[in-house]
Amino acid sequence: MTSFLQGNTCVFGLQWGDEGKGKIVDYITEHAEVVVRYCGGANAGHTVRIGGEKYSTHLLPVGIFRPGVMNLIANGVVLDPETLFQEIDGMTARGVAVSPQNLRVSYKTHLVMPWHKQEDAARESSSGESAIGTTKRGIGPTYADKMQRSTAIRVADLQFEERLEQRISSICSERNKVLKVLYDAPPLDWKPIFEQYRDLGRRLLPYVDDVGHLLLNYRKAGKRIVFEGAHAALLDIDHGTYPYVTSSSCSALGLYTGAGVPPQTVQNFVGIMKAYSTRVGGGPFPTEQDNSTGIYIRERGNEYGTTTRRPRRCGWFDAVAVQYASDLCGTTEIALTLLDVLSGLDVVKICVGYKHRGSTLDYFRADMDTLAEVEPIYESLPGWKAEISACRHYAELPGEAKNYVKRIESLVGAKISMVSVGPERTQTLMR
Ligand code: GDP
Ligand code: IMO
Ligand code: MG
Repeated sequence: MTSFLQGNTCVFGLQWGDEGKGKIVDYITEHAEVVVRYCGGANAGHTVRIGGEKYSTHLLPVGIFRPGVMNLIANGVVLDPETLFQEIDGMTARGVAVSPQNLRVSYKTHLVMPWHKQEDAARESSSGESAIGTTKRGIGPTYADKMQRSTAIRVADLQFEERLEQRISSICSERNKVLKVLYDAPPLDWKPIFEQYRDLGRRLLPYVDDVGHLLLNYRKAGKRIVFEGAHAALLDIDHGTYPYVTSSSCSALGLYTGAGVPPQTVQNFVGIMKAYSTRVGGGPFPTEQDNSTGIYIRERGNEYGTTTRRPRRCGWFDAVAVQYASDLCGTTEIALTLLDVLSGLDVVKICVGYKHRGSTLDYFRADMDTLAEVEPIYESLPGWKAEISACRHYAELPGEAKNYVKRIESLVGAKISMVSVGPERTQTLMR
């Protein structure tokens, strides 16, 4: 029996995002009653395939596809309410019911405002070579205001309309000075922004709740909870490849403050890693294959951003980077995804160390200056020709594929308990 059938589980990315967290959270949620998003915002794009239907979520927890499951957006998330309702309307139109019956939003959650998106886009386009390559969803500026405090707006503020009006007007007048001087951008008109957020707030209020208190009661009642991480450990604001990271605590460690639960809440830490590496946006990527191998992986894996449709950068599996991420997160088991993408290659390579300034580095330093200079040391393993997406049992995989799984498991140092060979729920092999 695998451990996620018992206790509470955190699911998180072990690379630079898009590892297939959505698919695995959906799979695990068959055995859960509550799903919680604890970090990030609409910069996330999680894909779920159910019976040939493809759904992408950005803010909605993936538990909305399981009837009877309660979904919580916790305080660690930054919420763009316009995007949330676009998502809710899109899901409703496709027959996926979303209402306060199965979705609640923490009153402590911070709001993404139009000026955050404007600032994100303006800063990116004026940064030239040093642009981070953000999703332009206003994520960084919203978290910056959260820390700043006096210029932030939370979900709780939506219920007091007069106060909201006053805050939006005063923040806009301050913002306009900055926009003019720094970006020569046109001024914001506070009134339509207030009216838009007042209306969004009226629609949001039935969903607003005390998520921390709900979680306490669910824990006391013994309900099984899945914490749905967004992004990944190597994009974490503190532990990722700074400054080419996102602005939240998106390793497994972020779940405690991001959801408002103590460490004893979670027993299972399920890291998700793909059988190779990808990255969207800028930043160091030692095993990147800007060549025919990279193109092979991108086309077979459909490696185009779920949120921005940007082509993802592709490369070989980096065991040094993943071991770092796995150790950081206290991974208890791993789901290995997208193994089917590597079928057809003569040789598959794994990065087992780095050469740096004449010496060997056998551990990951999440530091730009080091990573920009390292040269990967590869181990080559025989590939496998057969397509494996029709396999339904681990034993059916070709021997070379099983060897590859075993080798990366021993390099990363955590048990691979699930292997995914396609985007559908049914294409998940227990090991
Ligand atoms: P997330 O952000 O971690 O949830 O991942 P994304 O949804 O952004 O990207 C993962 C992509 O891979 C999605 O299109 C999934 O449908 C797809 N996917 C997930 N697991 C597998 C797999 O094992 N094989 C293949 N071929 N596709 C997969
Ligand atoms: P999921 O949850 C992949 C990347 C962006 C950019 C950097 C900063 O789908 O795995 P931001 O807009 O967050 O300020 O951008 O972080 N990024 C992701 N890349 N998957 C994600 O989420 C990402 N979320 C942010 O591409 O390089
Ligand atoms: Mg994604």
